[in-house]
Amino acid sequence: MSSLTRVHSGALHGVDALSIEIEVNEGDGDPSIVIVGLPDVAVKESRDRVWTAIGNAAYRKPKGRTTINLAPADVRKEGPSFDLPIAVGIIALSEDLKDGALEQCSIVGELALDGRVRPVKGILSLTLEAKAAGYKAILVPAENAREASLVAGIYVYAIPDLQAAIHLLKGEGNIAPEKIDRKDFFKQQSRYDIDFSDVKGQIHVKRALEVAVAGGHNALMIGPPGTGKSMLAKRLATIMPPMTENEAIETTKIHSVAGLIDSRHSFIATRPFRSPHHTISDAGLLGGTSHPSPGEVSLAQNGILFLDELPEFRRSTLEVLRQPLEDGQVTISRAAGTFTFPCEFMMIAAMNPCPCGYLGDPKKQCRCSSGQIEKYRQRISGPLLDRIDLHVEVPTVDYKQLSSTDDSGDSSATIRSRVEKCRHIQQQRFAGHSAVTTNSVMPSKLVREYCQLEPESHALLEQAMNELNFSARAHDRILKVSRTLADLEAVEQIQPQHLLEAIQYRSLDRNLWA
Ligand SMILES: Nc1ncnc2c1ncn2[C@@H]1O[C@H](COP(=O)(O)OP(=O)(O)O)[C@@H](O)[C@H]1O
Ligand SMILES: [Mg+2]
Ligand SMILES: [Zn+2]
Repeated sequence: MSSLTRVHSGALHGVDALSIEIEVNEGDGDPSIVIVGLPDVAVKESRDRVWTAIGNAAYRKPKGRTTINLAPADVRKEGPSFDLPIAVGIIALSEDLKDGALEQCSIVGELALDGRVRPVKGILSLTLEAKAAGYKAILVPAENAREASLVAGIYVYAIPDLQAAIHLLKGEGNIAPEKIDRKDFFKQQSRYDIDFSDVKGQIHVKRALEVAVAGGHNALMIGPPGTGKSMLAKRLATIMPPMTENEAIETTKIHSVAGLIDSRHSFIATRPFRSPHHTISDAGLLGGTSHPSPGEVSLAQNGILFLDELPEFRRSTLEVLRQPLEDGQVTISRAAGTFTFPCEFMMIAAMNPCPCGYLGDPKKQCRCSSGQIEKYRQRISGPLLDRIDLHVEVPTVDYKQLSSTDDSGDSSATIRSRVEKCRHIQQQRFAGHSAVTTNSVMPSKLVREYCQLEPESHALLEQAMNELNFSARAHDRILKVSRTLADLEAVEQIQPQHLLEAIQYRSLDRNLWA
């Protein structure tokens, strides 16, 4: 005697998924289950859960030697998401399912011993793959159903337990496919409950951050504690252009693979804000550990990576950030294979002006020696500073007094509309250069083309370079920021006032503190 069933499923590979076919073959021999196809420990453990769940759900267990083959063999399969399709494949040996039911759907889910279906990681990627592979439907754990239903063009069925899956595949039961008004849902999810106008005063800092966002420039805020640096950083997303649906899917995929999506927050339609502590490991920052999982740089995809207390980060940590910042992606090589995760984010950093924090504070006395201050600042010079276009001084303000006079500045919506106009100009400018999207990433060739100066401005910049003792790297950055300032006013020619403002944003390059 021998009979065979085939069930379709998927396996995560980096942030994406691959189709997996599960063959269940019941042959002669003593009752047993053998799983082949390079499964990892988790897949072997799945054998026990599947066996118990089938028994508890009162289905017939195979009487002979049962071989389960997961193909293709060379794809490393991780996690418990094969429980449900394996169990379905075994039960299909003895139960009559609807004709074609197994061919038309993909099935994923972990089983509890009592037959309940538990949620799995990466459901968005698994559903996208099932759709791309041409399946009509996907059976997913009930808790993952909302996330899965964001994929258009495939029926998503929320499966609470093993019996429900079998009923559905027999054409019985009453599970209807998930329905979601994608547009409406997206709109609801893309609202922020914080606003730039929550921050009082700091008009110059807000201006600088608007410029940073408008041109895609990374920025560093320098100021004493309690002046609103963290508040502003958290609100940066609210002045960025809203996420597009594609960006939201990209970001959600990464968070889903990291296991950070639950049934309530099933979709990330607001730009992520990640603020790793300065003690973070390289693996935590870039991704890694035994199962490749995305790091903070990838969790910040399409959003903000905030490095608070920048000088406290280990130099080697800042060093490893350089490549991902440049490439917009990070590649992790492990025994399990090589994985590439995207990491396109805006980097915003903050630091105190000196180790004690109070240099320049009108009320508190700074206790640091000039040697200590220099050493502190030197920790960030070099690798990372090279990637930061704007340095912004954040002064102490009496915000209690300010809030009484309601010095709130523009709302996020107002600032965002200016940013969007400015981004639009850049999109048109760089339409022929696929790798360039904003002024900040112009290569020097494009800087020479699009940041030409009139003689007066040229003389001004030269003078500033000499008198303020600017480092050579500051030159191009000043031009790029000037370009953004001109774009914010929608003027073609960079004017002297644009240059002057851009020069202000290079305080760490002026060797003032040496
Ligand atoms: N400009 C400001 N407007 C409104 N509240 C402020 C401002 N600056 C500081 N605060 C208040 O002080 C707290 C600390 O601010 P925070 O942004 O954490 O400062 P920093 O990161 O510069 O140390 C905030 O939670 C807020 O209540
Ligand atoms: Mg802070
Ligand atoms: Zn100090």
